[in-house]
Amino acid sequence: MTDDKQSPSNDVQGLLSRSCVPVDENPEILSLRPEQLSDYIGQAEVVETLRIAIEAAMEREEPIDHVIFHGPPGLGKTTLAHIIANEMGSDLTITSGPALEKGGDLVGILTHLEQGDVLFIDEIHRMPKIVEEFLYPAMEDFAIDFIFDKGVHARSHRYRLKGFTLVGATTRMGLLSAPLRDRFGIFRNLDFYSEKDLVKIARRSAALLKVAIDDEGAIELAKRSRGTPRIVNRLLKRVRDYTQVRSDGVITKDAVNAALSLEGVDEKGLTNLDRRYLRTIIEFYHGGPAGIEAIAATLQEETDTLADVVEPYLLKIGLITRTSSGRKASEAAYQHLGFRVQKKIFS
Ligand code: ADE
Repeated sequence: MTDDKQSPSNDVQGLLSRSCVPVDENPEILSLRPEQLSDYIGQAEVVETLRIAIEAAMEREEPIDHVIFHGPPGLGKTTLAHIIANEMGSDLTITSGPALEKGGDLVGILTHLEQGDVLFIDEIHRMPKIVEEFLYPAMEDFAIDFIFDKGVHARSHRYRLKGFTLVGATTRMGLLSAPLRDRFGIFRNLDFYSEKDLVKIARRSAALLKVAIDDEGAIELAKRSRGTPRIVNRLLKRVRDYTQVRSDGVITKDAVNAALSLEGVDEKGLTNLDRRYLRTIIEFYHGGPAGIEAIAATLQEETDTLADVVEPYLLKIGLITRTSSGRKASEAAYQHLGFRVQKKIFS
């Protein structure tokens, strides 16, 4: 919160990892992100929860309760962490579960936080247990407990931290341990965005990028963005390049169709990976049910990528179903890929 704050040491800086920066965290896309709740489109209930929590905490001159966001990638978890810090007038520190390998990694970050600061931990479910244990007293009592020596000589020392807010993000709420989950005060699930909200986001981003987009162009872009603002913004840039070089610079429905077919994005917004996934279930596993591990092995892809990135949207639009014995392709999936629907006699 203060201007004269020391900058984190080199070690800590490394953990605020930029080594693997998601697409929407590069500085240009960052500028497409809303910075205030009033500019945020969609997720109305999440926005209202945060508005109330922030206003109440500001009145009490306290940090807001710890927040956990759950949902597929690209739906705004990091953006909301930025907004919370902006609205509270505090600084944001960003790290991720896998970047925190040792307890000391987290301690270094926590001890640099100022009163009211926001610490964002992405993929918090991938934080090692040993690091997680430092987080419990930090979240509950704003303290870190150091244990010196062992056995009868063991002594503990409590180091006081400034009051901060932890914002956690996870694609897998089920993988969070109960003690960690229970220390968050605000739980919010981010769902896929409606086409109407994605149209608004496309228009807003186009205006920020100073590129003309007509109504049909915005609708087509929204339809092909898998319910995800990060994808709208990424595809918008591809279509912008296309119209700049191949047409008159205006984003129309035809321009979106032409540019996105080059990208391998079809009319439902499915990518090559989505279609390979569906084809594997249909052709290799006769429509399923097939276990995710088996599908991942056939595709030679990470199971986590399928579970976090591919499946949530296919489930949402009904192209697959999940049963106790595995994933099944729906009739709509057969039709979308141009297969004849197999009627199973015994199933
Ligand atoms: N850009 C990315 N996500 C957004 C959102 N939810 N509202 C406005 N602009 C955005």
